[in-house]
Amino acid sequence: SILIVDFGSQVTQLIARRVREAGVYCEIAPFNSAEEAFERLQPKGVIFSGGPASVTAENSPRAPQVLFDSGLPLLGICYGQQTLHQQLGGKVVSSDRREFGRAFIDIVSPSGLFDGLWNVGEKHQVWMSHGDRVDTLAPGFEVVACSEGAPYAIATNEEAKRYSLMFHPEVVHTPDGGKLLANFVRHVCGCAGDWTMAGFRDAKIADIREQVGKGRVICGLSGGVDSAVAAVLIHEAIGDQLTCVFVDHGLMRQGEAEQVVSLFRNSYNIPLVHVDASADFLGGLEGVTDPEKKRKFIGAEFINVFEAEAKKIGGADFLAQGTLYPDVIESVSFTGGPSVTIKSHHNVGGLPERMNMKLVEPLRELFKDEVRELGRELGLPDAFVGRHPFPGPGLAIRIPGEVTQEKCDILRKADAVYLEEIRNAGLYDAIWQAFAVLLPVRTVGVMGDYRTYDYVCGLRAVTSVDGMTADVYPFDAAFLSRVATRIVNEVQGINRVVYDYTSKPPGTIEWE
Ligand code: XMP
Repeated sequence: SILIVDFGSQVTQLIARRVREAGVYCEIAPFNSAEEAFERLQPKGVIFSGGPASVTAENSPRAPQVLFDSGLPLLGICYGQQTLHQQLGGKVVSSDRREFGRAFIDIVSPSGLFDGLWNVGEKHQVWMSHGDRVDTLAPGFEVVACSEGAPYAIATNEEAKRYSLMFHPEVVHTPDGGKLLANFVRHVCGCAGDWTMAGFRDAKIADIREQVGKGRVICGLSGGVDSAVAAVLIHEAIGDQLTCVFVDHGLMRQGEAEQVVSLFRNSYNIPLVHVDASADFLGGLEGVTDPEKKRKFIGAEFINVFEAEAKKIGGADFLAQGTLYPDVIESVSFTGGPSVTIKSHHNVGGLPERMNMKLVEPLRELFKDEVRELGRELGLPDAFVGRHPFPGPGLAIRIPGEVTQEKCDILRKADAVYLEEIRNAGLYDAIWQAFAVLLPVRTVGVMGDYRTYDYVCGLRAVTSVDGMTADVYPFDAAFLSRVATRIVNEVQGINRVVYDYTSKPPGTIEWE
């Protein structure tokens, strides 16, 4: 495996993605706990990420000495390059010339780093983003690639297998960057490149068996991909020692509860408790209009119901959760202060500590698309695995203002029409998330010879990589008018449809 030491770059996770795409397992550890991770992982090579700090500043982060002492191949990127040289006896200076964006480097000398990929005399596009620069190379290092603004674009100590880059190979704007990283982890470090989902699945099954023993496991299903994949994997490992609980809060999309229940009971034969708690949830939401109050109530009620059901089946020793790697990585923050709460996210993943059970989290090392791949590996239907994300509080946060049974029913119908049209147009997989919103506004319309006075329906569709930022999906006008016509004709209670043209930021994806 490979250890990635994180110095707080925004794109550290991309390094991990590229390494795994090369078929090599890797983990990210913040610089201040990298030593512990190193002892545990026993990696074959180490990558230092970029980061926002300045090596020249007092108390700026450093890599643990043990990594240098190990004699393993090292690759320093950007800040990682600078601290590598500084720690090995070179010198870094602040530069008044900052360099950001596309640059071209000249290869001036061969290197094991790009053996078979780049040749001397060639020019290659890379992505630079740095302020400081190495002024004096550490002893033993030589320049193998340079550009006008970056005399030490790549400097290496071939004998010691230590490589340093001033640019970012992990971003797509360095077209050969993925190949460069693959070459490092496979040819320089000698990793086999045989890390596959099938292998991961087998290893996890063994881990789960060992962790759980004869114990009983309970798993909350949300209807989402992550908890479903976790449940199916655990079931493969321990069979009927697993019980799943699906809390239907009445805020699901059309047909969703039936799909989840049937998938688990019929296709997988996994014991499933289906709790219809919609009356409790809708009752509790009566008169609540504030988005944060809605979210808090739903989160708390969910836990109440789940706990009560867990008690009914005699409790369990373990709680299974579909926690993913991005939730686990302890991000290195240099800004200090707490970040502002935009929304209180509610997840099935956030079940209470007071339940006092040990956790089983088999997806902790995976990224979202890797979870989808694992789901396919486990035989989950493509249509299920490829589903758009759906938030824990469900339709409640797509009905601004008070949530009622009637509004939920109206919204479910409109949403189903919209998604059907998206599927028919073959656009579902090109979109990160698409859904309808029911506005607490009535407007006047005319249908036939009658005046109507009904709700407005908002349509949302975005593209995104991780949900953190998003762009509006650019439907053509014919598509939107087809959807609008169908919704107004088929869904009683809606007489006007609008398209949300706001990116994130400044909007969020959901409306509350
Ligand atoms: P926003 O609306 O904040 O959402 O741009 C970003 C992504 O997160 C989803 N989302 C949630 N997911 N529990 C969840 O599991 C929640 O409470 C929650 N709120 C928002 C949202 O659907 C989008 O994909």
